[in-house]
Amino acid sequence: MNKITAAITAVGKYVPEYVLTNKELETMVDTNDEWIVTRTGIKERRILKKEGEGTSYMAIKAAEQLIEKKQLDPKEIDLVVVATATPDMFAASTAAYVASKIGASNAFAFDIESACSSFLYGMSLVSSYIESGKYKKVLLIGGDKMSSIIDYTDRATCIIFGDGAGAVLFEPSTDGYGVQDEFLRTDGAGREFLHVEAGGSVMPASEETVKNKKHFVHQEGRTVFKHAVSNMADVSEKMLTRNNLTKEDINWLAPHQANMRIIEATANRIDLDMSKVMVNIHKYGNTTSGTLPLLIADYEEQLKKGDNIIFAAFGGGFSWGSILLKWAYDSK
Ligand code: UT7
Repeated sequence: MNKITAAITAVGKYVPEYVLTNKELETMVDTNDEWIVTRTGIKERRILKKEGEGTSYMAIKAAEQLIEKKQLDPKEIDLVVVATATPDMFAASTAAYVASKIGASNAFAFDIESACSSFLYGMSLVSSYIESGKYKKVLLIGGDKMSSIIDYTDRATCIIFGDGAGAVLFEPSTDGYGVQDEFLRTDGAGREFLHVEAGGSVMPASEETVKNKKHFVHQEGRTVFKHAVSNMADVSEKMLTRNNLTKEDINWLAPHQANMRIIEATANRIDLDMSKVMVNIHKYGNTTSGTLPLLIADYEEQLKKGDNIIFAAFGGGFSWGSILLKWAYDSK
């Protein structure tokens, strides 16, 4: 019997309607469109404005789009994993709520969190479930409502992040499509440079923590930038060398969208033309766990059966890695 690999067989996406432009940010903090565009590549980002709507709202919309496009009976889904750094709430998983809302009544569901690497690690996790033969239809959703943990008086962070979600269906392939290889790493020494300090078990929420804005993302941008550039480039290069591939064998690079300069540095290292690099940072900013599935959804129509895609991410933790995937279908 042929080996089972984990192929992506459908995608869906959702971004909120509200567009927060650089111009609007100029009215909120001491910044300007030119600085943001030249330092990050971001022109606008989406914000989920309505009170009472969290990450699950976007995750459900993305999953529903996928279900509709694929004409999938949600009862056939075995497992729903939500990758997110901004779950709806603690203790009750966002995934459990999402699975029920989309009608995946025969599935079990849970969340995974590893900041901007959540979706990449999720790909590793769900592909292992598929490869083992244990489950046949696994829905991996990546989404974040970053606006819920951003301080809109801090120009160092508020210009970067946005809200959004994407959903991806993994199914078994016996023809060799799907995940081919992975290289994933973490370094806990990095957590002081990128984190949300309060609200967890180390520093539970209190009047004091709220007053001191400890529930917002704190990032030492320059340090994170340096680590992101070297690690994303290293892992992308590693994916080529250890699979005996040349740049001609790579059809697409799907890099985490944190900063256009990091994306370009990663592409440069493997000498890949920018026309082969998936980019949507200009319109969504950094959507954390939403980034990779949103990229897949935005580029789905351009992907061809057999295309080799390198996914690469870097984020809080620190956490980073790359995955090599062979695309399984022509969408047109
Ligand atoms: O997704 C998870 C991983 N995250 C990342 O990969 C993000 C990595 N970091 C970055 O993308 C960049 O470090 C930032 C975009 C966050 C910042 O860009 P930078 O080029 O590293 O700027 P910087 O922090 O070195 O600041 C340069 C100058 C400073 O002014 P002085 O000290 O040189 O006078 C900042 O105060 O730019 C100033 N600055 C700004 N000016 C206008 C910082 N933020 C802004 C702003 N508008 N929004």
